[in-house]
Amino acid sequence: MEVLQKAWYRSFQFCVNIGGRFLHWRKPIPITGEGSTSKIPELLKENGVTKVMVVTGRHVGRELAPGIMENIRAAGIDCIHFSQVESNPSTTTVFQIRDMYRENGCDGFLAIGGGSPMDAAKAAAALIVRPNKPITKMGGLFKVLRRLPPLIAVPTTAGTGSETTIAAVITEAETHHKYAIMDIVLVPRYAVLDPEMTRNLPPATTSTTGMDALTHAVEAYICWTNRTKESDRLAEEATQAIFKYLERAYRDGNDMEARGEMLIAAYKAGFAFTRAGVGNVHAIAHTLGGLYGTPHGLANAVILPIVLEDYGEKVYNRLARLAELTGLMVQGSDEEKAKAFIAEIYAMNKRMGIPKGFDHIRREDIPQMVQWALKEANPTYPVPVVYTPERCTAVIERIIAAAKE
Ligand SMILES: [Fe+2]
Repeated sequence: MEVLQKAWYRSFQFCVNIGGRFLHWRKPIPITGEGSTSKIPELLKENGVTKVMVVTGRHVGRELAPGIMENIRAAGIDCIHFSQVESNPSTTTVFQIRDMYRENGCDGFLAIGGGSPMDAAKAAAALIVRPNKPITKMGGLFKVLRRLPPLIAVPTTAGTGSETTIAAVITEAETHHKYAIMDIVLVPRYAVLDPEMTRNLPPATTSTTGMDALTHAVEAYICWTNRTKESDRLAEEATQAIFKYLERAYRDGNDMEARGEMLIAAYKAGFAFTRAGVGNVHAIAHTLGGLYGTPHGLANAVILPIVLEDYGEKVYNRLARLAELTGLMVQGSDEEKAKAFIAEIYAMNKRMGIPKGFDHIRREDIPQMVQWALKEANPTYPVPVVYTPERCTAVIERIIAAAKE
């Protein structure tokens, strides 16, 4: 039975890989450097936007958006601001954004923040171009299929990579069902990567969002299929940059070079995983988010080295290459290099105050976690090792045990 199931997963992934080669995997145009948000009015003008819908959460709406909106207005472009996007945005929020956009005659979107405002803006934009399609019918792949109004994304953390992805994850207000609208048209037109936007991020958010980006790069790099030369190159470059700059940004939030390089690394890792996929680390991390509200980046940071260790020889050659590129080990066997790479992830976590395991996982929740994680991972993610329930349980047990080490 297990063999048949695995064969089905692998056939599905093989077909998706073939199909994916015929798609145009558009990337947002990156606008980089300190003060790059000052270019937003120009970008809006170039795209014919006369009234822009600015979408943020409360904090960014108070702290970072006003200055940007002042510049936009000074350039003669009107702004309408929706500043109430919650984490895990609901369909109610998406409808409110859509209604404000329509009532005010807006003709473009500017999303500033982490994943949530970007996802809410993407979903609202999808409703604008598909006015007769219920939002519940948009979940899944390629249900939008129409060009969106211009959408500019400004990330305020260096990690999620939402500014590059094809997905908008939203939660149905009544049922609390969380689902993703996935379509290449949802990729923003521009990603404005201004390190000033991340200057005041607290160290703990800097480290965990940065490890989320590392997880994107590594999981994309070890997928058994779907990878392309470009996704590999971007994953390699992102990994090298994260090893070099994440701890600098963590120690000194005002290090603008490190902040800027981290934003670019998160953008590259975002594209790598959009193209190739993530894997079991994300699948298990999401169950911790759902059950205990564990922040996504923190969950990934802790689970990444444990899952890599569990994969063992299946990923030695891929991790060995990353160990060489990051300068960790250039001589030795693939096994030695891969182990050095994993050891360095543990060491980075330790230096940034990230725990080795989690003691808040309740043993009675493990079967539910395993069920969710396997359902998320299979057959969608081209994981290097397909987990059985027993193996996934052992990994979760290891996450609990590691908290005591
Ligand atoms: Fe992630």
